[in-house]
Amino acid sequence: MIKKNKVAIIGAGQVGSTTAFTLAVKGLVSELVIIDINKEKAEGEALDINHGMPFLNPAKIYAGSYEDTKNAEVVIITAGLPRKPGQSRRDLIHSNSRIIKEIISNLNEHAEDPVIVIATNPVDLMALTAQKVSKQPKTKVFGSGTLLDTARFKFALAQNCNIEARSIQAEIIGEHGEGEIPVWSLANVVGVPLAIYCNVCDRICEEEKRIELFEKVRDSGMEVIKKKGATYYAISLTLARITEAILRDENSVLTVSTYIDGFLGINDVSMGLPAVVGTGGIQRIIELPLDLEEKEAFINTSKVLKTLAKDIDEFKPE
Ligand code: APR
Repeated sequence: MIKKNKVAIIGAGQVGSTTAFTLAVKGLVSELVIIDINKEKAEGEALDINHGMPFLNPAKIYAGSYEDTKNAEVVIITAGLPRKPGQSRRDLIHSNSRIIKEIISNLNEHAEDPVIVIATNPVDLMALTAQKVSKQPKTKVFGSGTLLDTARFKFALAQNCNIEARSIQAEIIGEHGEGEIPVWSLANVVGVPLAIYCNVCDRICEEEKRIELFEKVRDSGMEVIKKKGATYYAISLTLARITEAILRDENSVLTVSTYIDGFLGINDVSMGLPAVVGTGGIQRIIELPLDLEEKEAFINTSKVLKTLAKDIDEFKPE
């Protein structure tokens, strides 16, 4: 039987260990198992968090194996290679898809009925790989998608307009990476369209300024990697937010990488779109009324992702 608030994290690197720490600090888990091919690393991370237990909500936190995923409610996958400076997320497709397939086949064998959340990059293609290999329904297997890009977008707009980030409604959809799309047409501040509210902000009514702001947001992951070697705080908060929505059955709307079957005539691809997330994973997708340009961009990104997915399917390691 599924144990409520039990989470497994696979991959105890920078993203996995920071996610474990974030879940513990937020008091979201009753049990947390950390799994890595490097068992010592997983043990070290669990021990380090456990030493802070007197300051945390009580939870059983330990390094384990796939047998321990049996009754997990949520499994978060952060295993795989990260980007190096100058590398695109798409450069990681072959090495990381091999790892994702291996992990999902282990979960198929051991985990009863988990919701599987993928962070490994390129996340949309890794989510699709997992959706295809997993025995779980596609609504229970999805990626962190463009939720982090959406957070970065809100942060940038918040700074530009000198307003708190949570008061801004503005989504980035599509691919987490090169093919991401800012939904300017629906962006708003407490319901006031940004097209009107932008007068209060710094030049954000101007097309040129919008492009500049968006490109900075799109490339900001690499900016962090160049400056400090890796990104892990914001992605860990993103993963903790998704996990929270599932564990607490919130039905929160989050822009995760979800399997698409029909939206804008697109199918068999996983991309970032707002989805209602609660117990058991994705309840439904919110079909945004995009403008023409946004629709075209979304369809174009789906075509690029399909070509890359075919590349994964046909790849034969030497
Ligand atoms: N099974 C379990 N763990 C694995 C496997 C595997 N098959 N292959 C690799 N790992 C583990 C490594 O041992 C390492 O501890 O995955 C971890 C990866 O950690 P890091 O190299 O620190 O990478 P990190 O920065 O955490 O990024 C992981 O998340 O956001 C994405 O782009 C990022 O794809 C990358 C992933």
